[in-house]
Amino acid sequence: MSSVLAKLLSHNGNQDRRTPKELFDELNNEFNFQLDPCTSTSKPNNLGTPHFFKYPEQDGLQEDWSKYKSVFVNPPFRDAYKWLKKAKEESEKGCTVVVLLPSKTETKWWHEFALKADEIRFVQRRVTFEGHKDPFIIGIALIIFKEQQ
Ligand SMILES: C[S@@+](CC[C@H](N)C(=O)[O-])C[C@H]1O[C@@H](n2cnc3c(N)ncnc32)[C@H](O)[C@@H]1O
Repeated sequence: MSSVLAKLLSHNGNQDRRTPKELFDELNNEFNFQLDPCTSTSKPNNLGTPHFFKYPEQDGLQEDWSKYKSVFVNPPFRDAYKWLKKAKEESEKGCTVVVLLPSKTETKWWHEFALKADEIRFVQRRVTFEGHKDPFIIGIALIIFKEQQ
């Protein structure tokens, strides 16, 4: 990846890219999320889910998500591979996981995990994350792994 694109994707290194309230509320009405495994470090529990993991005290990649049944993940985009892999594994243990990521269809993580999801939704507008002035440069996808029975 070019360093210019890497910089844009990471908002110049600021990975604290909080989900806009209207987007989260719309999804939460449908999924009733119980866990945010990577809550904002600047505003802990910003999404108001009943449970959350706050880094670095808790590492969301190491914790068990499956007991929470419905999970919303907006991870640091630079670690998309690890978080999507984890989301798929946790759904296989018994929870539904919705992962918010850029629609980067050329990546390894997209082909290895996103294409095996139960559903992918594409947000039909530019998304401006809370704590950021400009809309994100790439379209946003919601990658959904449903609870495996
Ligand atoms: C893109 S922000 C999303 C915040 C919030 N979940 C939301 O959607 O508004 C991702 C957050 O995950 C935190 N984080 C990074 N690595 C983590 C880890 N291994 N476990 C838990 N949280 C982590 C970062 O500090 C950052 O604030």
